[in-house]
Amino acid sequence: MHKNPQLRLTRRSFVAGAAGLAAVGGVSRSLAQETRTFDFRTRLTSYVFEDRPPTPNLVSLADHAPPPVLRLRKGQKSVINLTNGLDDYTTIHWHGLRIANQMDGVPYLTQMPVAKDETFTYAFTPPDAGTFWYHPHCMTMQQIAHGMTGMLIVEEDMDPGFDADVPVNMKDFRLNDDGTFLPYFTARGAARGGTYGNVRTVNWDVAPTYDVPSGGLVRLRLLNTDLTRVYKLFLPPVPGRVIAWNGNPVLEPIAMPTQDAPLWIAPGERADIALRVPESEGTPVAVQSVIAGQLTDIVTLRSVGASAKRDLAELAPLPKPELKEPDLANAERKDILFGWSPDGDGTKNGLCGDFGYTFWSIDRKPWPGDAVEGTGPVAHLRLGQSYVLRLYNESPNLHPIHLHGLVFKPIRSNMRTLPANWTDTILLLKDEVIDLGLVADNPGDWAFHCHVIEHQKSGLAGYIRVS
Ligand code: C2O
Ligand code: CU
Ligand code: CU
Repeated sequence: MHKNPQLRLTRRSFVAGAAGLAAVGGVSRSLAQETRTFDFRTRLTSYVFEDRPPTPNLVSLADHAPPPVLRLRKGQKSVINLTNGLDDYTTIHWHGLRIANQMDGVPYLTQMPVAKDETFTYAFTPPDAGTFWYHPHCMTMQQIAHGMTGMLIVEEDMDPGFDADVPVNMKDFRLNDDGTFLPYFTARGAARGGTYGNVRTVNWDVAPTYDVPSGGLVRLRLLNTDLTRVYKLFLPPVPGRVIAWNGNPVLEPIAMPTQDAPLWIAPGERADIALRVPESEGTPVAVQSVIAGQLTDIVTLRSVGASAKRDLAELAPLPKPELKEPDLANAERKDILFGWSPDGDGTKNGLCGDFGYTFWSIDRKPWPGDAVEGTGPVAHLRLGQSYVLRLYNESPNLHPIHLHGLVFKPIRSNMRTLPANWTDTILLLKDEVIDLGLVADNPGDWAFHCHVIEHQKSGLAGYIRVS
């Protein structure tokens, strides 16, 4: 059902940013060198979606619903004590952070699953500022379907000068009218593009409106944590620019999205947009999408108060990413194929939930499962060397391919021009072949998979070894 955002204004309207969305961990400059410690316990909670009765069995952290926006700082040590309050096993992965392999949160590959009432301590120092996120990597389907995804913001050393910072965590739920959950997926969906949700939310609310200062500069952090949907978003013509893509400041420009040329944000992906909101109080700026032929508001910003009279030119540019350029002239090429699966009887994920089907493969081999021992890497990269990964999509479906622990740059596609911006995820279109360049500078076994979780869990997964 389409909700009029004006109606939402009277029901749920607040200043986004520090005082609005639950955020934990914002640090003052003087504390930047101190360790930041969080004690989180996963737990079940309930939440009201639109006009339904409360939905039980959502998964969140501590006393937050939805899971909090976690604010860390570049170069500052962070310690997260995760205690599992759920009956099921879990782990947490820090999507996009280039940290030590043992802290990456991938069951069996980097750590054992965390049982009920056990605590696992994640300790790391984020090397890059930007928009990242966290999610379980054990019982991934079930726990993400039940809401367990959160934005992870790593603050810059400097202050870029925004008046408001608006986290937008887009995620669909599959709910019955009585608020209970529909099955997480259908086999038919998993074998094709994936299974779509029927309740589209931002920070667990349907088409919310957030108040921002009139004439102010807003950093919109768009994050797609859905299991399946590739969001295609656009904005009205307000002054603005895309400043970061998948956690990294853009080096080659990405155009401001319009209805004719929307910005595609696949599962796992992020975009940071700097924009100046209108001067006159009450004027809405809606991020929209056309979904099933319907013009749909995703999230709306409403300007409040006297004009802050800011100008986009007042923003300090984000610091350039400190990443090593691949040496393409001497890079070894590795070809990797993504496609259908030869017959299989389902991945074996041990304590992390067997999926029951195998539909997908990498290099024509379905991933046998997280808990299967003796499975070799998709590729073995030598530490410190440059590589070109040539990814082939042999299927008609879209696959956002994600690599943990490293970032890469698109070099070329057989179908389109891709801006050469650092990223941890790349969307492969039907029949597309993309070359990626990277320096294998972080040692470990790094998970490598499609971020359509049904694809990941039914075979489109593996890992890349760097040693
Ligand atoms: Cu966002 Cu392997 O994950
Ligand atoms: Cu990841
Ligand atoms: Cu996929």
